[in-house]
Amino acid sequence: MASDPFQLFDEWFAEAQASEPNDPSAMALATAGSDGQPHVRMVLLKAHGPDGFVFYTNRQSAKADQLRENPRAALLFHWKSLRRQVRVEGEIEDVSGAEADAYFATRGRDSQLGAWASDQSRPLDSRATFEQRFEDMKRRFDGRDVPRPAHWGGYRVIPARMEFWSDRPHRLHERRLFTRAGDGWTEGLLYP
Ligand SMILES: Cc1cc2nc3c(=O)[nH]c(=O)nc-3n(C[C@H](O)[C@H](O)[C@H](O)COP(=O)(O)O)c2cc1C
Repeated sequence: MASDPFQLFDEWFAEAQASEPNDPSAMALATAGSDGQPHVRMVLLKAHGPDGFVFYTNRQSAKADQLRENPRAALLFHWKSLRRQVRVEGEIEDVSGAEADAYFATRGRDSQLGAWASDQSRPLDSRATFEQRFEDMKRRFDGRDVPRPAHWGGYRVIPARMEFWSDRPHRLHERRLFTRAGDGWTEGLLYP
């Protein structure tokens, strides 16, 4: 049994990438601002390792406001066909501008233009307005590379707790909880 939660995550993630029909990197991201109201939505995991779990988004979005007020988050992966979930909880840090630039440069051109066109989380009068903005951005960057917009960037969730849940017969499911302890981790089992 792996006693390093990142190694275990790597194993499970590789199995999910091999078996899930759709978006194995999709994860629910929960945040709560200063009013304490929890909010949850899906985002895509774009990098992970012992430093933490990285996603990218619009830094003027509702989730970004909540993270400014309260820089903590929870993540949830649910790999349905494997009947597994992984929960991650911890503090958030900003991904550096250089790392965000490097990732942005790997995105398809339409996604890059979309990042310029979207005022994420703001009301939109019509779909046509958004499509018009997308066309405007196409013209604006015609014939040149699309730079990363200043309002678009990444966050890294630095786990303090990671829990691995797997389906077992007769509902005797397994929950392995890893809790950060100094430079290492302690592991315990929880009743399912
Ligand atoms: C499968 C899936 C993946 C998504 N991935 C992202 C993502 O990586 N980044 C992002 O900003 N929004 C992503 N979204 C959209 C978010 O769920 C959400 O609608 C958006 O970020 C606005 O959230 P907010 O208003 O709470 O900030 C994704 C949605 C789905 C269904």
